[in-house]
Amino acid sequence: MKFFLDTANIDEIKLAASMGILDGVTTNPTLVSREKGAGTFKEMIAQICEIVDGPVSAEVVSTDAKSMLDEAHELAKISENVYIKIPMIREGLKAVKVLSSEGIKTNVTLCFSASQAWLAAKAGATLISPFVGRVDDISGVGMDIIRDIRIIYDNYGYETEILAASLRHPLHLVEAALIGADISTMPYKVFDQLFNHPLTDIGLKQFLADWDKVKDHV
Ligand code: G3P
Repeated sequence: MKFFLDTANIDEIKLAASMGILDGVTTNPTLVSREKGAGTFKEMIAQICEIVDGPVSAEVVSTDAKSMLDEAHELAKISENVYIKIPMIREGLKAVKVLSSEGIKTNVTLCFSASQAWLAAKAGATLISPFVGRVDDISGVGMDIIRDIRIIYDNYGYETEILAASLRHPLHLVEAALIGADISTMPYKVFDQLFNHPLTDIGLKQFLADWDKVKDHV
């Protein structure tokens, strides 16, 4: 499973990239709005593409297919690593179909059902982003959507990759991996939490203390 960071924060992206296990980045207008003052949107995406050797999702903000395509063509010029993030609406899928025929990579976002994911795959989406946490937030079971999409895509051989999004904690990632999602995107906080285990800390402390006792004699 590929690991993406869900952020537009350059420091977080640099930090995660320095671990050597970061495969890509997803952004959205809300995440970009949190980085006010960090340059224009295009500059931000270009900077992220310089740091990360992998897909970088940049979202359009138009809601009609023609304007989405205009935005997408501009964003795609930034780098071949740019994936155009398009909302899961009728006009969005029209744009995805065109971009797919042009060889431009897409990430269909704001997906909340298996039927939506099915349509996105039929339109030729490169990635589909089901939002797990937001469904959990309203007392649904977000992970069930990932499970259903996996089955549908496998049944019919769709090549669209499942990008589990809106992940809130490490167990979300483990569940997504067990189901067979292709990618997980997570906030830096969740990425960092994946490393943690209290027994690792206790064990290391003990090893170092024991070594200290004998280090001058071995
Ligand atoms: O970027 C898409 C998705 O991951 C958003 O997550 O936490 O805003 O529901 P969240």
